[in-house]
Amino acid sequence: MKYPGKVKIVDVGPRDGLQNEPAVISTDTKIELVDRLAAAGLKFIEAGAFVSPKWVPKMADSDDVMAGITRRDDIVYSVLTPNMKGFDAAVAAKADEVAVFGAASESFSQKNINCSIEESLQRFQPVCDAAKAAEIPVRGYISCVLGCPYEGEVPASEVARVAKMLWDMGCHEVSLGDTIGTGTPAKAQAMIEAVAVYLPLDRIAVHFHDTYGQSLANILAVMEQGIAVVDASVSGLGGCPYAKGASGNVATEDVLYMLDGLGIETGINLAALVETGAFISNALGRVSSAKVTRALAGKAAA
Ligand code: HMG
Ligand code: MG
Repeated sequence: MKYPGKVKIVDVGPRDGLQNEPAVISTDTKIELVDRLAAAGLKFIEAGAFVSPKWVPKMADSDDVMAGITRRDDIVYSVLTPNMKGFDAAVAAKADEVAVFGAASESFSQKNINCSIEESLQRFQPVCDAAKAAEIPVRGYISCVLGCPYEGEVPASEVARVAKMLWDMGCHEVSLGDTIGTGTPAKAQAMIEAVAVYLPLDRIAVHFHDTYGQSLANILAVMEQGIAVVDASVSGLGGCPYAKGASGNVATEDVLYMLDGLGIETGINLAALVETGAFISNALGRVSSAKVTRALAGKAAA
């Protein structure tokens, strides 16, 4: 098997991980989480979301988080921006990258961002145009690429169509989200094949939620195809408020352990990442979902 020599990991924990957590999380804790991820070697960190605080109250302090973190020049701090209001806030917060987020399922689009897929693409165009003028790279997300909580099966052709639209409007990278974690390796590969008709492989990212425990298998399967950008969430935190029952993203610790084992370069220090996972799990009063963290804790206790 030939895998990429290097993989870019995007830690979405401070955003996807915390947006749906029931616990109260102070702004200081969020800031410390981002700074600890940076110290562990993460070079791409999704630090927050400039979305409606009525829709996602947990992200309402993203401007304070962005202002409070210790910025490092070698790190890309990214935020979600569903529209121009979000984009303006991201510019004020000096985000290095913004992300628009659509879906391959009409029902999910309506539930998550209150508009159809076509309307969402129309809203993203001015964001992409303004970002281009301001020289801020835009990431594009597509949710429900391997299944929808409301519609079930989602055709790969629809994922590819939306991916092409995001690419054509100027997104530099498109992250394909298995929002409810139902995907399995062969399906994931078929979906990547459909998207790769329109996008270069090095511009496609994968974003697996681990609800059915398939994430690592899926990541390995798509790495065989040449995918080398992987989203993950420290401690396996995460979930979308508009995809009930879906669990967190694949844990960054578990992805890193697998990549380290394969001799693939990431620049991330596992021990420091595990400590960061323990920090945020303690702050949230929960046990880490990362298998690696649990295994290492068990070993230390023995
Ligand atoms: P809407 O209600 O249709 O928007 O929501 P609107 O333009 O009519 O505005 C309504 C109110 O929201 C107004 O305030 C606006 O000012 C305000 P009011 O006058 O009522 O006081 N507003 C905003 N406030 C702050 N920042 C903004 C903003 N825009 C409007 N940017 C909207 C449309 C998109 C805003 C809303 O549906 C929304 O915020 N949705 C976000 C949902 C979300 O964040 N979901 C989770 C992230 S996506 C995800 O997790 C999936 C992903 O991880 C990939 C995967 O796993 O699949 C990325
Ligand atoms: Mg997600």
